[in-house]
Amino acid sequence: MSNIGSYEERLAGFDWSLSEKELGYIPGDRINIGWYCTDRICQMGMADKPALIWEGLGGSGRTYTFNDIRLAANTIGHYLQGLGVKDQDRVCLFLDKIPELYLGFLGILKIGAIAQPLFSAFGDESLLVRLENAETSVIITQRKHVSKVRKIRDQLPQLRHIIIVDYDGRKPLQERELAFSLDEAAPVEEFEVFPTEAESPSVLHYTSGTTGMPKGVQHVHYSLIAQYLTAKWVLDLQDDDIYWCTADPGWVTGTSYGIIGPWGLGVTQCVLDSGFSAEAWYRFIEKHRVTVWYSAPTAIRSLMRAGEEIVKQHDLSSLRHLASVGEPLNSEAVIWSERVFGKPFHDTYWQTETGAMMIANYPGMKVKPGSMGRPFPGITGVVLDPNSHEPIAEAGKVGLIAFKPGWPAMMRTYWNNEATYQAKFVNNWYLSGDRASIDNEGYFWFVGRDDDVINTAGHLVSPFEVESALLEHEAVAESAVVSKPDEVNMEVVKAFVMLNPGFEPDAEQELRIMNFIRKKLSPLAMPQEIEYVDSLPKTRSGKIMRRLLHAQEWGEEIGDTSTLEDE
Ligand code: WTA
Repeated sequence: MSNIGSYEERLAGFDWSLSEKELGYIPGDRINIGWYCTDRICQMGMADKPALIWEGLGGSGRTYTFNDIRLAANTIGHYLQGLGVKDQDRVCLFLDKIPELYLGFLGILKIGAIAQPLFSAFGDESLLVRLENAETSVIITQRKHVSKVRKIRDQLPQLRHIIIVDYDGRKPLQERELAFSLDEAAPVEEFEVFPTEAESPSVLHYTSGTTGMPKGVQHVHYSLIAQYLTAKWVLDLQDDDIYWCTADPGWVTGTSYGIIGPWGLGVTQCVLDSGFSAEAWYRFIEKHRVTVWYSAPTAIRSLMRAGEEIVKQHDLSSLRHLASVGEPLNSEAVIWSERVFGKPFHDTYWQTETGAMMIANYPGMKVKPGSMGRPFPGITGVVLDPNSHEPIAEAGKVGLIAFKPGWPAMMRTYWNNEATYQAKFVNNWYLSGDRASIDNEGYFWFVGRDDDVINTAGHLVSPFEVESALLEHEAVAESAVVSKPDEVNMEVVKAFVMLNPGFEPDAEQELRIMNFIRKKLSPLAMPQEIEYVDSLPKTRSGKIMRRLLHAQEWGEEIGDTSTLEDE
């Protein structure tokens, strides 16, 4: 029997207070995600149950019980307090998927500070703009990433401490740097959790938009109410499950469902901190007897490419439930997984801004391959007419995905950018920025984004950010960045570049520019192709017409360009 039982029955009379009651939360009381994920689970008698089964490069591994993660979070929290970190201070986690990332996250929340996880593959420029915007006071990192922090620290006067969790004493520590080793620190048994309340800020995730710099999506401790129940009903997490979320906590899936959801439920999860390979992934599932697997379409497509032979070489019979998020899950992938794993991937749709799943395919409900499923109970989801912003009643007609505001995990603002936050609402609907249609059974079918943001392998990349970085390269006079189709990653970044006089439009130059972006921003943001042009299509006011180039890449009709001219 699945946790959700009947979707239809859950819809009737649904109230989020159901989740509050299960968590023993009384409105108006204190609520702290760090406490819920550790102390409460221990108090429920699960102190010795494995919480984290971690595996690093080369097969090194370690298991932490719920009591271990409780102590580790206390110890890190206590250490940060000793450095003068106060509630609501921003503490950045800039780490690979090592245990300190997961434990540090909980420690930060336990002291009422705001956790700001950033993807460890980010280059110095990506890091700088996000730390600057959040006025981050502490960054927790590791040896292999500290050089990127050193490069930018002079531009970050408010950054008081740079904590290195794996310092080996070989080279001297530099300005503002501190060494902290979780294994060597005295475990803190008794710890007073900061009295956060429902609306106290918890997590700050940066996400990319079409225009302007990345925006800090601000969440609150009350988000737990939605993350807990969606993890329970959509991922169907149960007491004896071994759960694997393949996402990196640098992105929202890796925190909402790679930390908070499963641990809020007291479920064992495993983490693999090494690069992707079909062999390594199947071996991991087999070794740890993974039962619930939450992954992403690009990974699934890569597994499809690796073929079925390799699947047969592994015992994957432990798998009970599969789910996916982040990009369109094509019907072929659903059908393939049903054939080779005996189970379909269940698509889920949500965003950094929504904090928790909004639309999903539920255990026990008919999966329509290619559809994202139906809104979670308590979520009012519609598609709006792009002009009137009224809900479209007609089945199959494409509109803008929108939700009635007010679910527990919804972002509370964009950090220091309330105006942009307000602009996400129209007629009291929250606009997701995506387009879809709804069929006559209420299933949502994704069509595309309503902006120029590039979704490459499930990661959002802002064309504006890439264009700005390109301009810093000496050879680049002007550029326009769009997506181009890719078999595995769905979309990849492509740049149209006008060179400055004296620079050769050749392959070497292309590589130099690509590498420049990879280092400055990240491997995801790096253009996979650079096309040299003599001019770029522009509107009369001088704005580059990205949509024209986009249409060209995707072989789409652009239609009347005079409307573009006026933008
Ligand atoms: C896209 C990730 C199609 C969408 C949790 C959304 C999807 C953006 C799906 C959010 C899906 C997410 N099918 N597209 N099932 N799920 N997206 O903020 O464009 O990193 O707005 O959050 O990814 O990406 P974000």
